[in-house]
Amino acid sequence: MLDGIGRRFEYLRLSLTEICNFRCTYCLPEGYRRPCSRPVELSVEEIARAVAAFAKLGLWKVRLTGGEPTLRRDFDAVARMVAAVPGIRRVAMTTNGYRLAEKAQTWRDCGISAINISVDSLDPARFAAITGHDRLADILRGVAAAQAAGFESIKLNAVLMRGINDDELEAMIDFVASRDLSLRFIEVMRTNDNVTFFAKRHVAGQTVIDRLEAAGWRRLPRQPGAGPAIELGHPGAKGRIGIIAPYARDFCSSCNRLRLSSDGRLHLCLFGDGGIDLRPHLADEDPAALIRRIRSLVATKAPAHRLHEGQSGATPHLASIGG
Ligand code: GTP
Ligand code: 5AD
Ligand code: SF4
Repeated sequence: MLDGIGRRFEYLRLSLTEICNFRCTYCLPEGYRRPCSRPVELSVEEIARAVAAFAKLGLWKVRLTGGEPTLRRDFDAVARMVAAVPGIRRVAMTTNGYRLAEKAQTWRDCGISAINISVDSLDPARFAAITGHDRLADILRGVAAAQAAGFESIKLNAVLMRGINDDELEAMIDFVASRDLSLRFIEVMRTNDNVTFFAKRHVAGQTVIDRLEAAGWRRLPRQPGAGPAIELGHPGAKGRIGIIAPYARDFCSSCNRLRLSSDGRLHLCLFGDGGIDLRPHLADEDPAALIRRIRSLVATKAPAHRLHEGQSGATPHLASIGG
């Protein structure tokens, strides 16, 4: 499925809940607050119908996100169901890792083959200050458990923040290089709830690229169908370093993903409007109307976000959409 400017969509980010138990300073500093009208999450049956329709439209990779997706009690069942949908070839998940040490093998056995884990600092006190949880040691045990469970891809995500963790670049690279893991540095993105934090803490991705290139890392050629991360490799490291730099020019030209929020709204962009409710179509046994609706909406996707103009769309924080 292509949009109006020829971008191909192969990847669905499926948010299972907007609830999170962490309080990351750039995302939910006060913790998750139940909105007056808390969205009713899609049922497993509704998720199954939605994923089947996206698969018929050519999407073959699904990432389970949140909030913290594993807070859903039926997370394992959802993962197994998504992995069994005809046409879905890869199921990935993004987690803050709080149950990873105990559940890594179960999730792998449910059919999840790729996992991204947030690790914003390797210093226990800083990790606690950033996330509100003094659990770095548990999370790192979880990373080791994921390696033992045989995930095909494990990436650590670090959001870089000026004056908070931007002096840890080299320590993080050493950590992953010696363990055959990949790492992505993520620029803080401005959302409607973090405007002041963003202004104080944003670090441009290009400064990270400059520091990496000075240390012998080199840009890797873009793989066909790859998403917007810029990737670098080093002869002495098995893993890769990715930079997610949404403020860079042309970031949106390689966009290959659609998002479904936990209450069934299609988001054509992380920083778009409030999303389009697909739920009315998710009760139908026949997917034809849903497929038509998705196709016609995707044709209208905007060419780029407007973050440069200070416009974060209707996004209060990334937990609300699934990042
Ligand atoms: P891969 O499937 O491994 O490429 O992962 P991913 O980078 O898409 O997923 P992950 O959930 O680990 O997200 C990492 C960061 O990238 C988060 O901060 C996401 O919000 C951000 N991100 C992912 N897709 C987009 C996008 O289309 N636009 C922007 N601006 N940020 C994105
Ligand atoms: N800017 C950049 N990254 C963010 N994440 C959450 N909110 C933001 C933001 N405002 C990251 C998390 C996690 C991923 C899914 O999104 O740290 O790694
Ligand atoms: Fe939770 Fe992820 Fe937001 Fe942190 S960034 S508060 S782990 S949803």
